[in-house]
Amino acid sequence: MGQLDHWNAALESRKLKRKPVGVKIAGQDVVLFRTETGQVGALDDVCIHRRMRLSCGHVEGACVVCPYHGWKFTADGQGTSPGTPRMHGEAVSFDVREAYGIIWVKAAGVDAEFPDFALPGYYRVTSDTFTAEAPLELVIDNFCELEHSGTTHVLFGYDLDRMHEMTFDVRSDEHATYCRTVGPHKPIAWFQRKVFGLGKEVTFTSTWTTRFSPVQTIADHALSDTVTGRPARLQWRVGEFYTPIDAERTLVTIVVFMKSSYPGTHGGIRLFKPVFKRLANSEIERDIAMLASIADKDTSLEGMRLSRFDKVHALNRERLNRVYRGIELPRPVMHGPIMPSPIAPSSIVSPTFDA
Ligand code: FES
Ligand SMILES: [Fe+2]
Repeated sequence: MGQLDHWNAALESRKLKRKPVGVKIAGQDVVLFRTETGQVGALDDVCIHRRMRLSCGHVEGACVVCPYHGWKFTADGQGTSPGTPRMHGEAVSFDVREAYGIIWVKAAGVDAEFPDFALPGYYRVTSDTFTAEAPLELVIDNFCELEHSGTTHVLFGYDLDRMHEMTFDVRSDEHATYCRTVGPHKPIAWFQRKVFGLGKEVTFTSTWTTRFSPVQTIADHALSDTVTGRPARLQWRVGEFYTPIDAERTLVTIVVFMKSSYPGTHGGIRLFKPVFKRLANSEIERDIAMLASIADKDTSLEGMRLSRFDKVHALNRERLNRVYRGIELPRPVMHGPIMPSPIAPSSIVSPTFDA
């Protein structure tokens, strides 16, 4: 399979209104347009007549109209010329889905799994995209380790001074990697502790799975009171989707779900949705800013002084190339046993790895 054969996240649904929008997916220019009945079409963003960008055009009925000589194209690519009505042509069209507030695009007619990560009892608070000035590998690396949470993040993350107490476990199978970190959370302000229903000592457990069709990490972030073991009143599930724009840039799509044990509709989360959205986005913007500042954006791991927190990166690269890009490369050395299923909370075994 090639990169466009997967359900790549392309754009927030709310950003596609009456005007067509041009996006780039793995180097391919695609025009997205919403017909008058609300259906989304996706075509190669080059007019078959004289190569004008269709994203500079407009929508009429069920068609996107080229601004240059007025050719009209339906969502399945059928094109007609107003100047030469007997002339027909076909533009390359893509399959489109809208879900979780996001428009997803893949090559037409290819079988691909669609991400399914909503959980009962969780409420979606935000779906947003960010452009990372870094290649796909470096973006995945960032979202698959939490060593950076001690410094890069403000609202959540491990206590930098106690990072050595944090455990990190990795399992993998042919198609995914499964990670879990557990350790002391950085100090939390008293009013936040009150909202979360936590004492002074807080344990942060993050469990995440990274899959490659499309490239995605689904992370569950859980806070609990270290002394009583009681879970916080708010829990998070975050879907992170990584779509290469080109070799240097990556679209990061974040879908955040929350669960609350407070009474009322969705435990009050719906009421405070704008606040949670702003807080979540401010944390992702910190990741994006950090990625932009990496001095050398070579995607190779050669020559790096990798730590125990980095042991998943080689496993991810192998799956990224094989599953997402359809390229078979030599397998990296596995750390820990290969497991057929995600980590069950009771079955964590620390793999051996040099500190
Ligand atoms: S270039 Fe599109 S109609 Fe001529
Ligand atoms: Fe981060």
